[in-house]
Amino acid sequence: MDNDSSFRIVAALREWIAGRAPGARLPTSRMLVAEYGASPVTVQKALRTLAAQGLIETRPGAGTFVRAVHTARPLDFSWQTAAMRSPNSHLGGLSPALRAAAQGSIALHSGYPDRELLPERLVRSALARAARSEAALTRSPVAGLPELQSWFAQELGSATPVGVTPPLSSDVIVLPGSQSGLATIFRALVTAGAPLLMESPTYWGAIQAAAQAGVDVVPVPSGPEGPDPDELARAFQETGSRVFYAQPTYANPTGAQWSESTTTQILDVVRAHGAFLVEDDWAHDFGIDTDPHPVAGRDDAGHVVYVRSLTKSVSPSLRVAAIIARGPAKERILADRSAESMYVSGLLQAAVLDVVTQPGWQTHLRNLLPQLRARRDLLLTSLREHAPDAHITTVPAGGLNLWARLPDGTNLERLVADCEAAGVLIAAGSSWFPAEATGPFIRLNYSGPNPGAFPDGARIIGQALLSNR
Ligand SMILES: Cc1ncc(COP(=O)(O)O)c(C=O)c1O
Repeated sequence: MDNDSSFRIVAALREWIAGRAPGARLPTSRMLVAEYGASPVTVQKALRTLAAQGLIETRPGAGTFVRAVHTARPLDFSWQTAAMRSPNSHLGGLSPALRAAAQGSIALHSGYPDRELLPERLVRSALARAARSEAALTRSPVAGLPELQSWFAQELGSATPVGVTPPLSSDVIVLPGSQSGLATIFRALVTAGAPLLMESPTYWGAIQAAAQAGVDVVPVPSGPEGPDPDELARAFQETGSRVFYAQPTYANPTGAQWSESTTTQILDVVRAHGAFLVEDDWAHDFGIDTDPHPVAGRDDAGHVVYVRSLTKSVSPSLRVAAIIARGPAKERILADRSAESMYVSGLLQAAVLDVVTQPGWQTHLRNLLPQLRARRDLLLTSLREHAPDAHITTVPAGGLNLWARLPDGTNLERLVADCEAAGVLIAAGSSWFPAEATGPFIRLNYSGPNPGAFPDGARIIGQALLSNR
């Protein structure tokens, strides 16, 4: 990367911006590459510098625009911190996995699949039909549209073996995405100040939801096979906890899938301690080499509280998920949902139901798997070739992420910044640990835009790792 030419572009664009009104759209990166005879990486670097200077802003999917420059006196909000006192220190800020990607960057940090992996045609026609339906103008029941409840119940019922009573539609509570469901479950089943066991590492959003609910998180180490059932039993015993949050299938971040025997042993431990297993089945539609087998399918005594999201596989814009719970636990969860948001938009529920009941949905899922496999394998081979210091110990059988262990002593903050300066967004693994990280890790998502750039991305990570030594 050439610093001089990036400075040259910054200087020229500053002049261009000075003559434009706020909101004016900048030429596309491709046009800038042609105009300045520079590489895309150099152009991106110049755009990032201008954004850092507050002169431009990128709106994902729309382009890059001149920002309004505020010349008014600096505003003073210092009274607010005095009024609010110290923040909830565990909540932290926004997760790095949610940061917006500059145009043209290689985005390996995000959790949501690129639109080319979504059932776009199904979503658009479902939304049009939903707009004309009754649901567009009526209030949904608190627990969700009965037809959608029934779809979720049937899906889990199909994973329920003979001899186990399948869930009823009335056991289903529809949510606006599973994230808010996690906070609900922790509030309703754990309550503030009480201990919650969590796999470690685990989904950063679950850690945040636990912090928001004010529960006391106790990490349970989890490896490629899931947690050790004896460790889990010890944690239940020592803490008196009654709730264990876990992702038995294609865990985010590690990709781990519990084996049959681990599942049996963990269910036994949970039952023996009169506890709940909160099963977050976020990647149900993303099995690559194996099929998902929800643990909840094996329980009819209300020990497993099942969370199933459709936001990643249908569309991140149709935020619909569900909790399936039985007994008094379901009633408590429902009461919390009602206090939290009353009900989920019927329009979104109708649209999602339309998508998942079209014959094209199953075809879409079948076509998705080879694409995920190709993306996973390309990122994997690219890393092995160009960034051998990033060790992937588990090749995930499904999900959307690779979890890489880096050499001890790697300065993660610097690595992430160096990669970003070179146009590659990666997520530091520290956000996935409920307590101290057990080493330097990064999470790389293979479902983002432009998989053709994975080899370049891996090369940049490899170089950044070498200069991090
Ligand atoms: C493990 C896990 N659970 C839950 C969620 C939240 O998903 P949503 O709120 O979009 O349903 C995510 C999103 O990244 C996730 O990775």
